[in-house]
Amino acid sequence: MTQDELKDAVAAAAIDEVRPHLHRDTVLGIGTGSTANRFIDRLAALRHDFAGAVASSEASAERLRGHGIEVFELNSVGTVPVYVDGADEVNAHLYMIKGGGAALTREKIVAACAERFVCIADASKKVECLGGFPLPVEVIPMARSYVARELVRLGADPVYRQGVTTDNGNQILDCFDFMIDDPQAMEARLNAIVGVVTNGLFAARGADVLLLGTERGVERLLPA
Ligand code: A5P
Repeated sequence: MTQDELKDAVAAAAIDEVRPHLHRDTVLGIGTGSTANRFIDRLAALRHDFAGAVASSEASAERLRGHGIEVFELNSVGTVPVYVDGADEVNAHLYMIKGGGAALTREKIVAACAERFVCIADASKKVECLGGFPLPVEVIPMARSYVARELVRLGADPVYRQGVTTDNGNQILDCFDFMIDDPQAMEARLNAIVGVVTNGLFAARGADVLLLGTERGVERLLPA
């Protein structure tokens, strides 16, 4: 199967995962990226079965509206029963690296409000140790050079993602050559650097279930 077919398979499985949560007043949390897009496209057929969604990016919000799904401001919604999103890497504890699409901060905010985080990913995303994918760090623009120096002190090789401005008006540093032994500790350590908005480690709030697209079918994995 191609990677696209695996993404389609997990998007379909995610529909089955959220179906029990769909009621007239349900507001779903929706992530960002090519796998989340496939989920959004499948959700369109169910748009009359739930109230709408909160989105982790302007791109996803636009796609949802394009399908006739109402998009709510997070501040007007209480908790979100379920959040569905992809990942750039995920380990056995269902800790993740996210932010390849630069949406990490809003993704982390919606995830924080979610009672349940459903991660959807193809098999290439499953890793033993996080860090093969360069870890994104969103920074306030004026702090970029300072934060980069601090990241070097921690052992990373940060690279400014040229030409990218996040939905929040900030910039991204991608940390290369930065294998992460203790994701929870590193997430907190990086967030403590002045000028960091957040980083792409999702360990304090990992996923509750991983739908992993493999050659053998979609595996449903729980945190180790
Ligand atoms: C967006 O900022 C990311 O966190 C995405 O969730 C992640 O990059 C996965 O994207 P794909 O589904 O396109 O691989």
